[in-house]
Amino acid sequence: MTTRLIRLAIVGAFAIMVAGVVSWYLNAGPGTGTGSDGPVPAPSFANVGGPFALTDQSGQEVTDETYLGGYALIYFGYTYCPDVCPTELWKIVQALGQMPEEVAAQVTPILITIDPERDTPDALAQYVALFDPRLVGLTGTPEQIAEVADEYNVYYARIEDDEDPTRYTMDHSVYTYLVGPDGAVRNVFTNGQTAEQIAEAVTAEVEGGGSV
Ligand code: NI
Repeated sequence: MTTRLIRLAIVGAFAIMVAGVVSWYLNAGPGTGTGSDGPVPAPSFANVGGPFALTDQSGQEVTDETYLGGYALIYFGYTYCPDVCPTELWKIVQALGQMPEEVAAQVTPILITIDPERDTPDALAQYVALFDPRLVGLTGTPEQIAEVADEYNVYYARIEDDEDPTRYTMDHSVYTYLVGPDGAVRNVFTNGQTAEQIAEAVTAEVEGGGSV
């Protein structure tokens, strides 16, 4: 009896030790944060941004030059996103509403999809119309999307659905980029920032005139 108790105690202590090591390992594991839309790599926005060639929701081919001369708020996401993308896009629309009209008039909100397979121009047209008539939806070939995402240091990855291959989801980083009239990224907003904070920062940038 006593021997059995001792053996149980030893097994128990060993199990606790293993659990401790495993939890230490998990906590000390890969140094990426986890956003509500999946893993988010540590932000690094030095030299982000750059030229792109994409297609808008009306089927028109556009480039970064299409939007030069004004400001753009660029968000990377996808129309099948269950929660984070709609929340962030609503926030951008709200932020535009909280800016002085003459400031908001200079800012084009843009959604660039990281799911070009499902987000055709037509799909984007229906989706952006749900938010605001000013919202532009851009898609492209998988290569074009990979290129612009790389320039903006955007992480995205396809998560397969075991039961239905058409119901895959996308993990992606959640950042909104304020691009100036010269095409340079002026500010980057995270999903922790409110519409009010975005509106204030964009207004300060636009009214400050920047270095254009
Ligand atoms: Ni999303």
